[in-house]
Amino acid sequence: ASQPEMHCHRTLVDALSLGFVLAGFAHLLHHRKTQLSYGRHMRPTPLLRTVPAPLAWFLQEMPAFLIPLLLTLTPHQASGTGKRLLLGTFVTHYFQRTFIYSFLTRGRPFPLNVMVAGAFFCSLSGFLQGHYLLHCAQYDQHWTAGFRCRTGLLLFYTGMAINIHSDSVLRNLREPGEVVYRIPTGGFFRYVSGANFFGEITEWMGYAVATWSLPALSFALFSLCFIGPRALHHHRELEIFREREFKRDPECRKELNPVVF
Ligand SMILES: NC(=O)c1ccc[n+]([C@@H]2O[C@H](COP(=O)([O-])OP(=O)(O)OC[C@H]3O[C@@H](n4cnc5c(N)ncnc54)[C@H](OP(=O)(O)O)[C@@H]3O)[C@@H](O)[C@H]2O)c1
Repeated sequence: ASQPEMHCHRTLVDALSLGFVLAGFAHLLHHRKTQLSYGRHMRPTPLLRTVPAPLAWFLQEMPAFLIPLLLTLTPHQASGTGKRLLLGTFVTHYFQRTFIYSFLTRGRPFPLNVMVAGAFFCSLSGFLQGHYLLHCAQYDQHWTAGFRCRTGLLLFYTGMAINIHSDSVLRNLREPGEVVYRIPTGGFFRYVSGANFFGEITEWMGYAVATWSLPALSFALFSLCFIGPRALHHHRELEIFREREFKRDPECRKELNPVVF
């Protein structure tokens, strides 16, 4: 006998999607002047309330990778290529973040409370995207060949390539164990000073187009509100840093490239 399908909790999906948008706007309002306390914006925190960056990123991002995979074990509609491809796309991002980015990072220790909050949002997001795709979404068999899906996936994977490359440029500005800030150059940093954030936002916008869904759009907006101000803040800091460098050594002006954002 065939297993019963898991029910689509439409009200929960809508509520969580709205929640992500509201959380994004609340973050934007709350952090107009100050940034969330991690990385270079970390306020003085007792060492005991911090977690080494690799472990923090691993634990924080893991739920968004694991929960959609666990949901595939629940009874769901016979999955078409579209659903498998889109769920695989979401999980690919979090595989990279959990198992590759985490182990390579040279970031400073991470505040425990920010890691717990991050893990909470990753759990909600993993559940929302996974549940929606497996139990609610309906794509016809031509979806993957359609314009939206193709354009969205192209944007997603272009954004992902920019994000991964830019994160590696930042990582290579430091020797292992060093905590210094230098001016990133090369790759997309030629055009955008928050190149890693630009790549990430492009990814989630692409994912929203490819899935054409409210949950994905809400996560793209949340990411924009969360990392957009951080990108702007890093841009301003880099400008100040560059100005100081120019004063010290006007010759280095030639070495630097224009920045748009
Ligand atoms: N989807 C979302 O909502 C979301 C939210 C947050 C983050 N993310 C993604 O997660 C990744 C990391 O985010 P993040 O906020 O930690 O990015 P970040 O502030 O740019 O830092 C990335 C890494 O590079 C180091 N770094 C940054 N600027 C540097 C410089 N000028 N010189 C030397 N090292 C530098 C940081 O070290 P320190 O940590 O020691 O400063 C950190 O290890 C990004 O790809 C981002 O897109 C996504």
